Amino acid sequence: MLKGKTVVVGVCGGIAAYKSCEVVSRLRKLGADVHVIMTEHATEFVRPLTFETLSNNPCVSDMFRRQTEWEVEHISLAKKADLFVVAPATANFVGKFANGIADDMLTTTVLACTCPKLIAPAMNTHMLENPITQDNLKTLEHYGFTVIPSGSGLLACGDTGSGRLPDEGVLVDYVARELEHEKDMQGMKVVVSAGGTREPMDPVRYLTNHSTGKMGYAVARACMLRGADVTLLTSSDLPPVPFVKMVPFATAAELFEAVKANAMDADALVMAAAVADYRPAQVAQDKIKKHDGELSIELERTDDILGWVGEHKPEQLFVCGFSMETKDLIENSTAKLHKKNMDMIVANNVKVPGAGFGVDTNVVTLITESISTALPLQSKDDVAMHIADIIVEAKRRKQKK
Ligand code: CTP
Repeated sequence: MLKGKTVVVGVCGGIAAYKSCEVVSRLRKLGADVHVIMTEHATEFVRPLTFETLSNNPCVSDMFRRQTEWEVEHISLAKKADLFVVAPATANFVGKFANGIADDMLTTTVLACTCPKLIAPAMNTHMLENPITQDNLKTLEHYGFTVIPSGSGLLACGDTGSGRLPDEGVLVDYVARELEHEKDMQGMKVVVSAGGTREPMDPVRYLTNHSTGKMGYAVARACMLRGADVTLLTSSDLPPVPFVKMVPFATAAELFEAVKANAMDADALVMAAAVADYRPAQVAQDKIKKHDGELSIELERTDDILGWVGEHKPEQLFVCGFSMETKDLIENSTAKLHKKNMDMIVANNVKVPGAGFGVDTNVVTLITESISTALPLQSKDDVAMHIADIIVEAKRRKQKK
């Protein structure tokens, strides 16, 4: 949440200005006090009234035309800002600002700002790739701006390439990473697994489960927001979590390799992936054709990944598993905690409304050696923050020893 934070959004005159409307709206929904400053050219693309309505604050554009005390106005905004984000930033803005030119409301306010500044360039590919623009962006980075990489794709000008303003969600995530949450996981490496495994039967079919990866993604995001270096081992189709290293897997065997390669030097491993316990013993080379009568498939056990981690657990590694049950939740989950030598297990009963697969909420009990905390129904994002709290606390205790 961004309650109590002031974000100033600078909007330059590019076609991507329409996307800034959604950014402003989302930031406000997250609780931020949002102020928009437009360049004069930006007002050709989107009316200031749109931003005024979305931000519920006056939208400032031309400092000379207004009768207000512009000097005071732009300095007071600069002082109030916890974060400045310029999106879209045109080549003109980038060029002017890299050279210290402050000739309108936006550039003068940015110049007066001491808070962290993000800049999201959006322009034609050739303009972006032009060494002049690249040099200007490097200059801005040198002066402490965070440059948000532009996306690739079909641009409004008809060219294909880099220069697209990243999606609204990505821009909001950049803001959230700057402003949300105390960075109490700074310096920690966290590995999270998410999604269901897919065990092939033949080139066409596989065995899987209902896991969508939402819980694991929420954990990865929470740890990222708290400053951790996060690797997400994923089989999910959900959009990538920004600032997180994404490592894809499909089968339990691939996940096992990814865990071995990434998690053993980490501070925490959170296994939210729903791992198959069995896979087809044989993978048919060709599609299995139907025929009269029954078909049975022989299954064999997969490796128990957390079981292996528990046996080889290095001192620094905090291991958190998940347990999905339909009955005897606490007994079964506590037994797994001990059997796999975990530090924590997050237990949920898939039969409880609001818990389990696909939904954005969960109802879980966090079980460690010393606690069993039943959390009420809440968003997976909130559950993820509780999990991160316990990881942070365990790390603190280890450091004290
Ligand atoms: N897990 C694992 N490797 C497996 C199966 C599960 O690492 N082959 C992990 C899961 O990611 C989860 C935890 O172990 O974090 C518990 O998974 P769960 O399926 O609930 O437990 P199982 O040990 O498979 O027991 P059961 O299926 O009998 O409930």
